[in-house]
Amino acid sequence: MFNLAIHLDFFYLVLYIGTIAYSFTGKILQYKKSKGIRIYLAYMSKSFTVNAINNLKQTGSLFRSSKFLAKKLTQSLNQNKELVVVELGAGDGSITKYILNKMNPESHLYSYEINEVFANKLRGAIQDERFTVLNNCVSHLTTDFKDKKIDYVISSLPLANISQEIKNKLLVDVKSILKPQGEFIQYQYSINDQKLLKNSFATLSTDFCLLNMPPAFIYTCKDF
Ligand SMILES: C[S@@+](CC[C@H](N)C(=O)[O-])C[C@H]1O[C@@H](n2cnc3c(N)ncnc32)[C@H](O)[C@@H]1O
Repeated sequence: MFNLAIHLDFFYLVLYIGTIAYSFTGKILQYKKSKGIRIYLAYMSKSFTVNAINNLKQTGSLFRSSKFLAKKLTQSLNQNKELVVVELGAGDGSITKYILNKMNPESHLYSYEINEVFANKLRGAIQDERFTVLNNCVSHLTTDFKDKKIDYVISSLPLANISQEIKNKLLVDVKSILKPQGEFIQYQYSINDQKLLKNSFATLSTDFCLLNMPPAFIYTCKDF
């Protein structure tokens, strides 16, 4: 088990270094103007990882979530009900698409994304009447939803990079917009904030997704 952990760490380290090197190469190659390089650069400028490197603290990860994590995060959504869902930190939409797939035609998804590049990418990639992109900070939650109660809040926010004070406020805000039977679903690459979530909600269940980069813990929090 110990050896496996070391091997996994080494594997991730190599992948991280490889990705950074790849991104830098892209930037260095900007000086050359061949068609192949222009196509390559256009691809890189749209890449989640390049945008993440430029905003690492805010993005919290170099890689978008896997479909395995997205499926686990959305498995409790009830397709037979009209739902109002709020997504926090949508990135370029790797989880957004799975949320929409689990919603019926009367439901609506509001996705917060503070990063303008990601928000524009989301608007371009997902054209769905049931979907609204909010290119805004999640600190606006209570003002934006003062007249609407929410069934599910699904969050990818990098809690590890957020101050304790802001995290406490975020959890109070999330609880205040949720319906009594509502759920708050958050993932994290460590169990650092498990205790905070346990103390903030009546019930907490924890799941784990190995097939993600890095593997992630999934918290489902309820107040009933
Ligand atoms: C770990 S990434 C997750 C992206 C995507 N949901 C995924 O799982 O692949 C976290 C996202 O949260 C966004 N974010 C961070 N702080 C935010 C805030 N205060 N308000 C809105 N979005 C925020 C970042 O820009 C980033 O896109």
